Amino acid sequence: MASLTVRQLDEKLKKLLRLRAARHGRSMEDEVRVILRQAAEEAGREALDLINPPNPPAQPAPRQARADAVVQKRVVLIIGGGIAAYKSLDLIRRLQERGARMRCILTAAGQQFVTPLAVGALTGQRTFTDLFDPQSEFDVGHIRLARDTDLLVVAPATADLLAKMAGGHADDLATAVLLATDRPILIAPAMNPRMWAAKATTRNLAQLSADGVRIVGPNAGEMAEHGEAGLGRMAEPLEIVAAVEGILRRGAALAGKRVIVTSGPTHEPIDPVRYIANRSSGKQGHAIAAAAAAAGADVVLVSGPVALPDPRGVAVVKVETAQQMAEAVATALPADAAIFAAAVADWRSDSTSASKIKKQPGHTPTLTLTENPDILSAVAHRTSGRPRLVIGFAAETDNVIANARAKRIKKGCDWIVANDVSAESGIMGGDMNTVHVVSASGVESWPPQGKDEVARTLIDRVAAALDGRKE
Ligand code: CTP
Repeated sequence: MASLTVRQLDEKLKKLLRLRAARHGRSMEDEVRVILRQAAEEAGREALDLINPPNPPAQPAPRQARADAVVQKRVVLIIGGGIAAYKSLDLIRRLQERGARMRCILTAAGQQFVTPLAVGALTGQRTFTDLFDPQSEFDVGHIRLARDTDLLVVAPATADLLAKMAGGHADDLATAVLLATDRPILIAPAMNPRMWAAKATTRNLAQLSADGVRIVGPNAGEMAEHGEAGLGRMAEPLEIVAAVEGILRRGAALAGKRVIVTSGPTHEPIDPVRYIANRSSGKQGHAIAAAAAAAGADVVLVSGPVALPDPRGVAVVKVETAQQMAEAVATALPADAAIFAAAVADWRSDSTSASKIKKQPGHTPTLTLTENPDILSAVAHRTSGRPRLVIGFAAETDNVIANARAKRIKKGCDWIVANDVSAESGIMGGDMNTVHVVSASGVESWPPQGKDEVARTLIDRVAAALDGRKE
């Protein structure tokens, strides 16, 4: 598309285009793409489809909402040491055009590629470079840089910077600010394809993703090194802007709303060392709680025993048994939405022995089981104080959708998120999930995606439903 357009231009325009591309450090094709994308954004969303952006957001919000998401928002941009740092200068301008209030931190390696002066000239502010600079510590201090912002963007995020973030290092201003912040972080990785594919980078990214860090890109393409190509080019400034808009829009989507989430298994004791339980890692429920908190909700996470850290910004109530979970949920009500992702044990032992039951030759103990309270069903059937949106999960091994449909009616909830947890699916304990959302209006099957992504999409839907919007 871009090469076609360039060929059809007259010589004078081609020359102007060449100069403009050189000024921005882009190829002519890339420059044309950027120009087209800007024009298309202004002309309307239909025109944007013509350019077919490499990573379009899954469900873009209308232009007005996206633009408003950035107005007056404070963004700290951390520029790492990579050749893609030149694109960060353009990123500053694109975010400023949309009304963002920018402050920039330049790492020592970043200063090898762009200067504090160039960055400062664009932001109209001093550029922060040094953790031990008395003046900047006096002016704002790294803790305030970390807190007095709506979002931190790391672009380019080099392999080294990712490793430091994943390890919790804080030996320069950029890493100290990243460690001290409780604000959302977006990273735009940029590195050589082999560094991107390295096991250490994969490990670090998995850690960062589990820590709630959002990632945009990288894209495939030519590297700065001659003859090198592959995955590792930093996302284009406008792709980063779209990701920023998405995060800031989400950041307010559930503001003022209260959400209860259950997660993990329950353990029903038989004696002090033995228990009955369902298999559940809690990864999906915890990711939902984290996504709801990131969307600005006041979140109570009622969790059974899991080996997961508490998600950021979430009030966690730790329980062991189904009865305790039911009580904790009742205490946490009222809420605007309740999402029941826990794998609650259906039964508990009738009696619990206070001391360990000893094995006796020739004698097998008999367990008598009592049914546990159905927490989801009880909340969904409340005649007063029912959350506006009650969502259950259905972990099925057969007839997934048919069972989920029946379960939704039986439990009285609004939506059921169903997934196939048969051993072959690898979903149980894994990081990926393939879900079908069953509601009164039908079934929607989502593509296989990470549990974090499932959580974010679900929370987008919850926000839209509470708002009375249909997404
Ligand atoms: N659930 C609950 N309390 C229970 C059992 C289940 O809140 N005592 C919730 C789960 O958190 C989930 C939904 O109900 O959101 C469905 O759980 P599932 O175990 O699939 O359903 P069951 O009712 O136990 O049906 P079955 O095991 O027969 O499939």
